[in-house]
Amino acid sequence: MPGWLKDAVFYEIYPQSFCDSNGDGIGDFQGIITKLDYIRDLGCNALWINPCFDSPFHDAGYDVRDYKKAAPRYGTNEDLIRLFEEAHQRGIHVLLDLVPGHTSEEHAWFQESCRLERNEYSDRFIWTEFCFQGAGNHGYPYVGGEAERPGTYLLNFFKCQPALNYGWLDPDESWKCSTDSAGARGTIEAIKDVMRFWMDRGCDGFRVDMAASLVKGDDEKKTGTSRIWKEIRAMLDKDYPECALVAEWSHPDLSLPAGFHADFLLNEPAGPYAKLVRDYQNHAGRNILSDPYFTGLDPEQIPELEDHSFFKKDAGGDITRFLDEYLRLYEETKDTGYISMITCNHDTVRPSFNMDQRELELFYAFLFTMPGVPFLYYGDEIGQRYLSLRTKEGGYFRTGSRTPMQWSREKNLGFSGADEKDLYLPVDPSQDAPVVSEMQKDPDSLLNTVRSLLKLRREEEDLHGQPNLKILYAESGKLPFVYQRGERICAVNPSSGQVSVRIDAGDRDAVWKVGEGSLQDGVLTLEAQSFVVF
Ligand code: NOJ
Repeated sequence: MPGWLKDAVFYEIYPQSFCDSNGDGIGDFQGIITKLDYIRDLGCNALWINPCFDSPFHDAGYDVRDYKKAAPRYGTNEDLIRLFEEAHQRGIHVLLDLVPGHTSEEHAWFQESCRLERNEYSDRFIWTEFCFQGAGNHGYPYVGGEAERPGTYLLNFFKCQPALNYGWLDPDESWKCSTDSAGARGTIEAIKDVMRFWMDRGCDGFRVDMAASLVKGDDEKKTGTSRIWKEIRAMLDKDYPECALVAEWSHPDLSLPAGFHADFLLNEPAGPYAKLVRDYQNHAGRNILSDPYFTGLDPEQIPELEDHSFFKKDAGGDITRFLDEYLRLYEETKDTGYISMITCNHDTVRPSFNMDQRELELFYAFLFTMPGVPFLYYGDEIGQRYLSLRTKEGGYFRTGSRTPMQWSREKNLGFSGADEKDLYLPVDPSQDAPVVSEMQKDPDSLLNTVRSLLKLRREEEDLHGQPNLKILYAESGKLPFVYQRGERICAVNPSSGQVSVRIDAGDRDAVWKVGEGSLQDGVLTLEAQSFVVF
């Protein structure tokens, strides 16, 4: 386990939209470098940068054309290496985004794989034998009619993303390779080689895209895919013991035993996490992400959805709906690795979409005082808004969470000197769009609350990532929610009324708070919408 993860707080950067240093309308490595002091002063000591490799950008870079080449729009490999160095000088570790499940259809491996003549890459992807033969009985999407080779190939996500071949768990048709076939082995070695390439150049690990997606026809326990990650982890333990591996899997009970150091608890519509921040599930089974709104239509439709998320004022949220699932995962995995909770990410709607400043403060206070390794998505520290936009680079509804970082009231809110029409995405046009420079000066701003929270987390060892969580009070349909981390007690009341509960903890002073609360003679009292650390 890389020791640095224990007190890591990550800042996720969507490089397109963070800071444009050369005025071409799109963010770049040099732009990130100029903001490293800001990130350090905010209290984050690690970065996750979304894919920044050569790509046709049909899925924002998750369609990699060359794993070993930085995308020219962000800079060169040398610039990226300098970013690692500059980050390290400030005590910041850097994770790159590894996309092992698929490449771009423009990747040279795939181009070679399409050829009629057999070659080194013929089995790097998953091909059937005949032009009218589909991907079989497993329901994987596939494409035919594009290559001179007479077969169809499997997709991992969008059409532009052919699935790399890691073999099938139980190959039951002649075109399916086994997991120890030369083809599957070739893919594993190629991905290891990519990891070594960037580790040797100074990166500190990887956030792994669709980490569960490698072996096809895998069983429920992901036996085949897990075997590969264990092999990769063995390589890291031997040659790069400080390299961190964070899964996009959302199944820590599977991913951590498979070798990951951390796994996200994702902010999905149906997941436990949604119960905290955007609990729209009760509304006639309607899933917000399939709502027409998110294809860029009418924002007015949203208020009709009922929101029962826990941190929303008086929304009737119930912490046990989150905790039941969370604690099961936590107990099962706490001795193996970390659970990562997020403010949101480049695939989700921003939390400011349905929460106001105070609600966000309560949510963030929870997020940054829980065990595990938390992730803050750029802009969430200022409550940057979700915008209703047309799709860009395969973003669809996600595009609205990928707009330029809002630094100041200067041109393009300080993101870029380019003409407005040349911006990667428009900046928030509202007069009151939150910006860093103004919030820095306001002691009561969300930004300064986040900063003081991260300072608290950094200074109080009990609040680092280790599994010292004890639930003191969490009852269905009742408030407050109270938990202990070592010597510290954290208590939250998202409602508009005062609540109190008996806690066997005598008298304690508050060390951090929003709102008001007290703990005297074993009685914990919290005023409306408050979070107190005693
Ligand atoms: C998950 C990534 O987070 C998302 O942005 C991407 O579109 C898919 N994986 C496909 O790589």
